[in-house]
Amino acid sequence: MPVIQHLDALEILDSRGRPTLQVTCTLNSGAVGAASVPSGASTGRAEAHELRDGDPSRYRGLGCRKAVANVRGAIFEALRGVDLPAQAALDNALIALDGHPNKANLGANALLGVSLAFARACAVEAGQPLYDYLAGSKARTLPRLTINLFSGGKHAGGQVAVQDVLMVPLAATIEQSLADAFAVYQAAADLILSKYGMRALTADEGGLAPNFPDDETMLQDAVRAIEAAGFTPGQEVALAVDVASSHFYADGVYRIGGQVLPGDDMIAHLLRWSERYPLVSIEDGLAEEDWAHWSALREQLPPTTRALGDDLLCTNPDRIRRAIDRNAANALLLKVNQIGTLTEAAASRALAEAAGWQVVVSARSGETEDNWLADLAVGWGGDYIKVGSITQSERLAKYNRLLMIERETGLPIKG
Ligand code: PGA
Ligand code: ZN
Repeated sequence: MPVIQHLDALEILDSRGRPTLQVTCTLNSGAVGAASVPSGASTGRAEAHELRDGDPSRYRGLGCRKAVANVRGAIFEALRGVDLPAQAALDNALIALDGHPNKANLGANALLGVSLAFARACAVEAGQPLYDYLAGSKARTLPRLTINLFSGGKHAGGQVAVQDVLMVPLAATIEQSLADAFAVYQAAADLILSKYGMRALTADEGGLAPNFPDDETMLQDAVRAIEAAGFTPGQEVALAVDVASSHFYADGVYRIGGQVLPGDDMIAHLLRWSERYPLVSIEDGLAEEDWAHWSALREQLPPTTRALGDDLLCTNPDRIRRAIDRNAANALLLKVNQIGTLTEAAASRALAEAAGWQVVVSARSGETEDNWLADLAVGWGGDYIKVGSITQSERLAKYNRLLMIERETGLPIKG
C-alpha cells in the first residue's frame, strides 16, 4: 500500500515565464513521481483558488513560495507515514486538510501538485504506465486532437473577442492527425502573410494572432487554410471554437465585433456559425453566469456541434450537475487545476459521461514541459484533448507523449 515517505516542491517557471510549482513525491517503496502544475489566464470565476505570494516586489506578486512551503510543510507533515490505499484516500485527505470549499488555505496549485505527483509515484510502484494507472485498468482509446490555429481574446491581446479557433484533424491516427495539422498550420501562416502583409505574432498557446478585422474572419481564414492545405473542411479536418464569451459579457449583453448583443442575438450569431462552418463544438459560446441562454443554445445547436462548457462548469461537480439538470451543455472541458485534485476531476468526468456528454481534456494557457495531460486524456478515455498549437515545447511535450503512447499501445482514436 502506498505510503508517502517524502514530499518536496520547487518553484519553477511556466510557458509565460510566471512561477508555478513542481512537486516530487517519494513513497516508502522507493517509487518516485514528480509533476508540474499549469495555470490559466482566461479563468472561470468558479475555479479553485490558485495561491500566489502577493508580494509585488517579486514576479509582480505571482510567486509560488507559499504554495511550495505548504507542500513541504503542512501537507507533508499531515501525510507522512499515512496509509493511502488509493488516489481518493490521498485527495480526500488533501481536501480535508485545506478545509476551505475553494481550497483557499493551502492553494489548489499546491494540492494538485501533490495529487499528480502521488499518482505518478503510484504508477511507478505498480509498474504501470501512468495512462493505465489513471484508467484503473487498461486504457482503451486515444483522444482526438483539437489544435489551436488562430487566437484572439485574452490569449492574444484582445484584437478580436473570440479566444481560439481550433482545427480538428479527423485522421485515424495521432501520427497522421499531427501531419495534417502541420499542413494546415503552415497554409494558415502563408495565408496570413499574404492577406495581412506580416508574419503573425503567436499567442500564449502558440496560435497565430494577426489583426483579424472581425471574429468571423478567423473562421473563414481557417476554412481557407484547410482548403489550401489540400483538405476538405469537415471531411478531413473539422473546426472547433472557444468563444470564451464570459470575458466580453457585462450587464446582460455580449460586446463582440463592434456589436452589442443580448443573449438571444448572441445565440443567433453562434447558430449561424454552426451552419456555415464545420464546428464539432462551441466552447463557452455564452457567459459563465448566463444559465438561461445556455439551455436555449444547447437546444438549438445541431447534434453535430456540442455545447462545450469551460468557464461555465470549471470542472466542478456541483456546476456540472446543475448544467445536466438544466440541459445547459453536452460536453465538459476538463481542467484538473480548476478543481484541484484528480479525484474531484474524476467525479466531474463520471457525471459528464453518465449524462452522455463528451469530455475534452484540456491544458491551460500557462503550461510546463510536463506531459501528464496526455496520459490523463488516454487513461480517462477523453473524446478530445485540447493542448494548444503545434508549436512551443510545453505543447509539444503532450503531443509527443501521445505519439509515444500510440506507438506503445496501438490504440485507436475514440469515436
Ligand atoms: P486559460 O484558457 O487556460 O487561459 O484559462 C484556456 C481556455 O479558455 O480554454
Ligand atoms: Zn475555454
